[in-house]
Amino acid sequence: ILAAGIGKRMKSDIPKVLHRIAGAPMLSYPLETVKSVGIRKIVVIIGHKGDMVKDAVEKTGILFANQEPQLGTGHAVMCAEGLLKDCRGEILILSGDVPLITKETIKDLLRNHKKSNAVLSFISTTTPIPTGYGRVCRDKDNSVIKIVEDKDADNEERKNREINTGIYCVSKEFLFSNLKKIRNKNAQGEYYLPDLIEMAVRQGRKVSTLVHTSPEEVLGINNRIELAEASEEMRERINNEIMLSGVTIIDPEAAYIHKAVKIGMDTVIYPCVFLEGSTQIGKNCIIEHGCKIVNSRIGDNSRIKNFSVIEDSVIGKDVSIGPFARLRPETIVEDNARIGNFVEVKKTRIGRGTKANHLTYLGDAIIGRDVNIGAGTITCNYDGIKKHQTVIEDGAFIGSDTQLVAPVKVGKNAYIGSGSTITKNVPAGSLALSRSEQKNIDGWVKKKGLKKG
Ligand code: UD1
Ligand code: CA
Repeated sequence: ILAAGIGKRMKSDIPKVLHRIAGAPMLSYPLETVKSVGIRKIVVIIGHKGDMVKDAVEKTGILFANQEPQLGTGHAVMCAEGLLKDCRGEILILSGDVPLITKETIKDLLRNHKKSNAVLSFISTTTPIPTGYGRVCRDKDNSVIKIVEDKDADNEERKNREINTGIYCVSKEFLFSNLKKIRNKNAQGEYYLPDLIEMAVRQGRKVSTLVHTSPEEVLGINNRIELAEASEEMRERINNEIMLSGVTIIDPEAAYIHKAVKIGMDTVIYPCVFLEGSTQIGKNCIIEHGCKIVNSRIGDNSRIKNFSVIEDSVIGKDVSIGPFARLRPETIVEDNARIGNFVEVKKTRIGRGTKANHLTYLGDAIIGRDVNIGAGTITCNYDGIKKHQTVIEDGAFIGSDTQLVAPVKVGKNAYIGSGSTITKNVPAGSLALSRSEQKNIDGWVKKKGLKKG
């Protein structure tokens, strides 16, 4: 798998193969596909920001070859020779920038290659706008004679819409005996891998071409427009699979779901929902419009209402979150709990059946079962240097507009009167009040002349 190039047309500091599609680096897709075909030895050729590329992909069972400097695709394959020395049989060559290629297509290529007894097989396709790609040149009998790169093609050749996809299967013996013979006398001064085709033809050896009928699957990504198109296609594949497993996606074009996400049966996904990373959603849930859920677990029958953001959190069954709630990392919400609008929760456990329905901040807290957190409650967890913990035991009632200055503990079934600032532990079963007593001054408004009567 070739992945050493810069990808100039991306106009990016990030190597092309690391641009993300449905949350995963582009390169991870062909890697996974090749593994699923059962190919045993996989070599990725890296060069430009090679360490960054290496760090970004799952490395088990993968070897890396360095290509420095990058002198073209032919040169790139040459750099893998050492690692492929003791292999027998055929070598499949793919590009890291062709992420949509499927297992079936690779199997077709391998089958075709075997059947036709070719030394080299490759996949071509026809596209309405062939600009930028290598064109497949054929003779009068329609046999392939060579591939000419866009920059080297004459006007006549440029009109040809059959292009090289850069996906090859080559006999090892043919590959490594001919790669060294490739010259770089061309418009880009590069060693072109597709030159192998003309070489095979001249040597009278068999070249076979698999003409692929859906160009969108086999076309490489060279710029951000193509990246967006490939992302759309990948999104469609992921969403189709999810829908076929029994999940309703109201508008599949507006559901952004990463590949590893799992969703249970009868869950409904509203438009503009982002489900990312390793998120797992249970059965019969409703994820409303505009929610973003990252690396989190949501139990069965839970409802995440409009515009809620949930990260690295675990949510139980029959829970209601939002609208407009923010659950930050290490939040645990147990079954039947409710988190309402404008509530932010961080590193906090919310017990079974507990409610925090309005305008609240809960950070670094352990909250028991069936607790009522009144509107405007704030855990004051930070003293400017350290974070401190708030503990609220089962059945406690926190009146509205309470500040809990941590570290502090509210005992079982205790009550806190509204508007209190709690700085000392509250024993179980007691009432805590820390507001000053109310004074009423009779006739004050009239005396001041503010209003008549
Ligand atoms: C290449 C083919 C072209 C084909 C097209 C299909 C050549 C010369 N041309 O062109 O016929 O139509 O793919 O997408 O092969 N790479 C390296 N080392 C290098 C150069 C490139 O590893 O020195 C890698 C790149 O990272 C990339 C892949 O090879 O993953 C293809 O390189 P790119 O420059 O995009 O090739 P194209 O010009 O698109
Ligand atoms: Ca190029």
